[in-house]
Amino acid sequence: MDTLLEIKTAYVLRVIGGSVYLTGAFLMVYNVRKTVISGKLIANEDAEAPPLEKMDQAKESGHWHRWIERRPIQMLVISLIVVGIGGVLEIVPTFLVKTNIPTISSVKPYTPLELHGRDIYVREGCYTCHSQMVRPFRSETERYGEYAKAGEFVYDHPFQWGSKRTGPDLLRVGGKYPDSWHYYHMYDPTSMSPGSLMPPYMHMFEDLLDTTTTKRKIEAMRTMGVPYAADFPAHANDHLSAQQDKIVASLKKDGIEAQKEMEIIAVIAYLQRVGTDIKAKEVVEAKPANP
Ligand code: HEC
Repeated sequence: MDTLLEIKTAYVLRVIGGSVYLTGAFLMVYNVRKTVISGKLIANEDAEAPPLEKMDQAKESGHWHRWIERRPIQMLVISLIVVGIGGVLEIVPTFLVKTNIPTISSVKPYTPLELHGRDIYVREGCYTCHSQMVRPFRSETERYGEYAKAGEFVYDHPFQWGSKRTGPDLLRVGGKYPDSWHYYHMYDPTSMSPGSLMPPYMHMFEDLLDTTTTKRKIEAMRTMGVPYAADFPAHANDHLSAQQDKIVASLKKDGIEAQKEMEIIAVIAYLQRVGTDIKAKEVVEAKPANP
């Protein structure tokens, strides 16, 4: 929050700069259109390039590879083939050698409810403001906790590393706050973080989770190598329902009456899971600043 409040002016300047840039792009499109319209088609033009001189190897002082250097198309095709061979030799083994995948035994696949929450996270574009990758620097680990390990992301399809931090990194947010904190925060971020510029997500409190897709979501993960048991997709929704009940009960403890089918329940399940497979952290109190 300290950083955010400091750089709010910079964000405003960025909007102004961006608008100038965008206006320039529109002007360019307009200009190109005008130019195209003012021209007229010339079906045939006289050739102006001189013919390629016949090369005499004996007389040329250059090197033997001069023959390919004066033929751009052939040069392009042959270099593509050469680069392609190198690429295949480098890339294919990484797919075939299983020990290349750095698994961590405590890292487990997401539960069905977490998987749903994760899809909502992707749908809402949370990754445009939040990264999920703590870099191995002091400044990062002091702030967020343990740095990210490659093996933590083996079941993430697609990964949510992100490259933009308007908000903080979320890799170690799991278990940082109680469920109720997320409940208040997602409804109105400023209630928990005064001055926040994160948008509210009130629709998640009205929209209900579509659990007809659970089975196919798990099956899709299985095709990508996530080790769910073969019979799991069929009764994944039972597991999902039980986890919903748990979160509703924990919210109730903090005086919140929530409906278990609400999308926010799945989002909370996901947020509480993120990055917890390799760490445990204390939980802070949830009291809205302006309830
Ligand atoms: C416009 C950028 C933006 C978007 C989009 C956004 N956030 Fe945020 N988020 C922030 C900012 C800024 C903060 C820090 C202030 C605060 O706590 O609200 C934050 C904080 C958070 C926190 C608390 C992190 C912590 O360690 O205290 C969570 C959890 C979170 N966001 C989840 C989400 C989720 C889930 C979504 C998508 C549904 C989302 N955010 C979308 C900007 C954004």
